[in-house]
Amino acid sequence: MFEFYFWDWLEFTVRWLHVIAGIAWIGSSFYFIALDLGLKRNATLPKGVQGEAWQVHGGGFYHLQKYNVAPPNLPEDLTWFKWESYTTWLSGFALLSIVYYGGADTFLIDIEILDIAAPLAIAISIFSLASGWLIYNTMCKFFLNGSQTNLMILLFFVLGAVSYAYVQVFSGRAALLHIGAFTATLMSANVFFIIIPNQRIVVADLMAGKDPDAIYGKIAKQRSTHNNYLTLPVLFLMISIHYPLVYTSEYNWIVAMLVFLTGVSIRHFFNSYHAGKGKPYWTWVVTAVLISIAAFLSTYRPDHLKVDSLNEVKFEEEYGELINLAGVTEIVSYRCAMCHAKEPLWDGLHIPASGVILESQADILKYAKEIYMHAAVSNAMPPNNLSGMELEERLVIAKWFENVKNKKKSTAKDELQN
Ligand code: HEC
Repeated sequence: MFEFYFWDWLEFTVRWLHVIAGIAWIGSSFYFIALDLGLKRNATLPKGVQGEAWQVHGGGFYHLQKYNVAPPNLPEDLTWFKWESYTTWLSGFALLSIVYYGGADTFLIDIEILDIAAPLAIAISIFSLASGWLIYNTMCKFFLNGSQTNLMILLFFVLGAVSYAYVQVFSGRAALLHIGAFTATLMSANVFFIIIPNQRIVVADLMAGKDPDAIYGKIAKQRSTHNNYLTLPVLFLMISIHYPLVYTSEYNWIVAMLVFLTGVSIRHFFNSYHAGKGKPYWTWVVTAVLISIAAFLSTYRPDHLKVDSLNEVKFEEEYGELINLAGVTEIVSYRCAMCHAKEPLWDGLHIPASGVILESQADILKYAKEIYMHAAVSNAMPPNNLSGMELEERLVIAKWFENVKNKKKSTAKDELQN
């Protein structure tokens, strides 16, 4: 029992830390991007100053100046922005380990997608994150003097290939989370291996009275541009785990790709706006179109969830009589209640999973829509189909819910009373 509370609180605390660190990282990086783009030049600025900005916040006025390479004398107390990024990655990896490695058989693996052993799945996860960085870093070095647009397009296709590969191996939920983790690893590694070390070289050169090589600025610019565009898609992928329609659909990896494009379209709006180049409202139209295509694609069910393959007549004969509240309650208590009960029987669970109780007919009515979303139109539940739910049972739930939805509420209540 103590062990259960320990792991639950550990997960909660690490998740909390991850969210706080993420806010700090993204907040500071968005702030600096906007500041940088909004800097104004004027003739009275000291030598070496690229631009300045006046800002008002929290009752005070701020006057900021940006030195393009470095100020003539380095100040003693210089604030570095790096732990926001490192803490986000470290807490994210810890959370990935607790939820997806610790619970690999539940959340990482889906035997209907690929039946692999937990240690192998975990090894694939770690290997993919590490090798992703090696490939990306090589590409960036190769393209340093080439076209940055071509590099971005190529990166987009690499992310597409990685996404496709992940959905072949992991559960839909874990796959989308991994696309996010893969991308976020590139971003943090950019800070840790490239941006900060290069900045240190520049500082060391200045202290030694040497002129720093401009190449370091160029490299940092390349990497921070990528980070700028990748931030929003990563956030989407991290929270997508709450939306079974997003992660279990046939084209979940294409949905992820479309969201990468919205990262570009939304950022483009703000980048232009903050740089004083106007407000390109068309980017919001592009974003809305991309999200609509994603929403449309999410309605396609994967092959292993398609009901067309079933024989309609045979289905009606064998399952027809279950398409009512009593029948659905029977199925749900058989397939779900071991984890979703006041006192769950599932090993290691001491309270109903996610606080969702699915025992009585009243519970089924209360959670009808959630049951439909998680277990009928998607196979998000049971996780990794741990209780061996049949496709026909999902279809019974789907048909029942669609019937109830089409009837008036009162009829559903009548059904409950009978
Ligand atoms: C093996 C245990 C297990 C079984 C069986 C199971 N669930 Fe779950 N369920 C969970 C866990 C664990 C979570 C919490 C998931 C998370 O952390 O995001 C959950 C969460 C949920 C949620 C809430 C999701 C959210 O976004 O908050 C719903 C709804 C749900 N399950 C429905 C079902 C239905 C319907 C069935 C049966 C078809 C079912 N579950 C079977 C373990 C189970």
